[in-house]
Amino acid sequence: MCGIVGYTGKRRAVFILLEALERLEYRGYDSSGVALLEGGQIFVDKKVGKIRELIKSLWGKELNATTGIGHTRWATHGGVCELNAHPHTDGEGRFALVHNGIIENYRELKEYLISRGVKYVSETDTEAIVHLISLNYEGDLLKAVLKVLPMLKGAYAFAVISSMEPNRIVGVRYGSPLVVGLGEGENFLASDIPALLPFTKKVIPLEDGEIADITPDGVSIYDFEGNLKVKESITVQWDLLSAEKGGFKHFMLKEIFEQPRVVADTIKGYISRDYELPFSLKDFRRIVITACGTSYHAGLIGKYWLERFVGIPVEVSYASELRYSDTPIGEGDLVIAISQSGETADTRFSALSAKEKGAVLLSIVNVMGSALSRESDYTLYTHAGPEIGVAATKTFTCQLAVLFSLAISAHPERENLINQLLKVPNLMEEVLSKAEGIKEVALNYSQRKNLLYLGRYLSYPVALEGALKLKEISYIHAEGYPAGEMKHGPIALIDQHMPVVVVAPRDRVYEKILSNIEEVLARKGIVISVGFEGDENLKKLSKDFIEIPQVAEELTPFLTVLPLQLFAYYIADYLGLDVDQPRNLAKTVTVE
Ligand code: F6R
Repeated sequence: MCGIVGYTGKRRAVFILLEALERLEYRGYDSSGVALLEGGQIFVDKKVGKIRELIKSLWGKELNATTGIGHTRWATHGGVCELNAHPHTDGEGRFALVHNGIIENYRELKEYLISRGVKYVSETDTEAIVHLISLNYEGDLLKAVLKVLPMLKGAYAFAVISSMEPNRIVGVRYGSPLVVGLGEGENFLASDIPALLPFTKKVIPLEDGEIADITPDGVSIYDFEGNLKVKESITVQWDLLSAEKGGFKHFMLKEIFEQPRVVADTIKGYISRDYELPFSLKDFRRIVITACGTSYHAGLIGKYWLERFVGIPVEVSYASELRYSDTPIGEGDLVIAISQSGETADTRFSALSAKEKGAVLLSIVNVMGSALSRESDYTLYTHAGPEIGVAATKTFTCQLAVLFSLAISAHPERENLINQLLKVPNLMEEVLSKAEGIKEVALNYSQRKNLLYLGRYLSYPVALEGALKLKEISYIHAEGYPAGEMKHGPIALIDQHMPVVVVAPRDRVYEKILSNIEEVLARKGIVISVGFEGDENLKKLSKDFIEIPQVAEELTPFLTVLPLQLFAYYIADYLGLDVDQPRNLAKTVTVE
């Protein structure tokens, strides 16, 4: 989704806003803009394209403003053009506003505004907010915002400045993330913590229904009735380096290689002898996992583990489907919501509606202070550090680490299983040390238009994840499937032009998947397999064979997913695509 930033202090705002925007570019990247408050006037510049276009446009301009707001856009309402880019103004240059989210009733608001003589120039929903603030302004920006909020329907975060009130920004959160950064004689606003890391680690993540009134000397937080709230700040543990590329060509590649370390960090938190869950999993009659995309795939793997080690039934739902389904859910159910960002609207709202019906809500989240973590009864954090590449990699394996630790937490074999788990980071390191070989294999397939990914049991969700990685960053069509289901339909696709990636570690379904490979070969399909080193069967059957070290059956997903992440990465990079910011995608999806 879009990214918004704000700065007020003593430094030149333009530099701070641009640096923060670059760090938020993963949230949206079709256009960007800034509004700067200087000498009682608002200067606005916006450009279509990446933030570098905005930087080029601002280059050499004498901009000394010390207060301003900025935006990087992921279009929802209205095409990608300068007119629709943010900041939006009231037309008289009195107010400028940046927004992330959707104003659902903007059509009615627009009609109302036009009937009041307002000149509505863009196709966006956002423009309505700034005109409403302008119409309701009587000398105090906060009061005008308070008057407008009851008129807005939807989910949003926005920041607004006024030419009549220098050194002041008002920011609002309702359904889309917004974090206040605290400095010395300066304060900040941003959609996400990584944007603030170069400037401060002291933050206040706003909750839905909160307003931040920001000046260089202080921050006041109010509710939507205008009551002052007392909020504690938190100190972010992430360091600046963790949000930089550190010599890698892309964030995604860096994040793939970080996995052994961050998985070890995550495991550490959950395996100590005295680590105890605040509840017993066995007391629930059922577990329902809700998540989207990659986090959903982690949930599918979690289901196998929880059913195996806890022994209660687990359902895994796409959050967007669960939210509007009639699935009976309530007391006696544990809902596990998995989300890297902790802000994904589908995941949050499906989890919240289950909680309202009486289920206990446990979340697995990467971002401290995120909405989902605050809304849950319990939160287990992944310690992956900031994930900047739009395609999730390290947060997936960290989610697996939490899910596995959770599943075995009360198992009689826990000690033994933990010992197995502790070996995983080194084994992941071994897989990654063979990245060059995986690259060679990958580049053989960079010109293909379709690929099929197959797996069974724990490798089925890994196949889904491998296919998702490839399609989202290389734009090559890829389909993940349970290998046993292939004969019920997808087998019709197989001919000499169809590469089939088969995830086939030696586990309980190994013999079965070998038969599935034979079925592919009988139809002249091209097999690329991922399996245990020294597996001569697989080697013989495959055109390309990617070896991973042997590991306990339950832990194979930690290793098998790595070659598939690299496979997708190397193809996308070879094709010259924007790996970290693939088209049409946004890192945090705060709309339903
Ligand atoms: C894929 C990817 C997405 C996210 C999904 C959920 O690489 O990143 O599919 O997994 O949007 O996001 P979170 O985990 O933040 O809820």
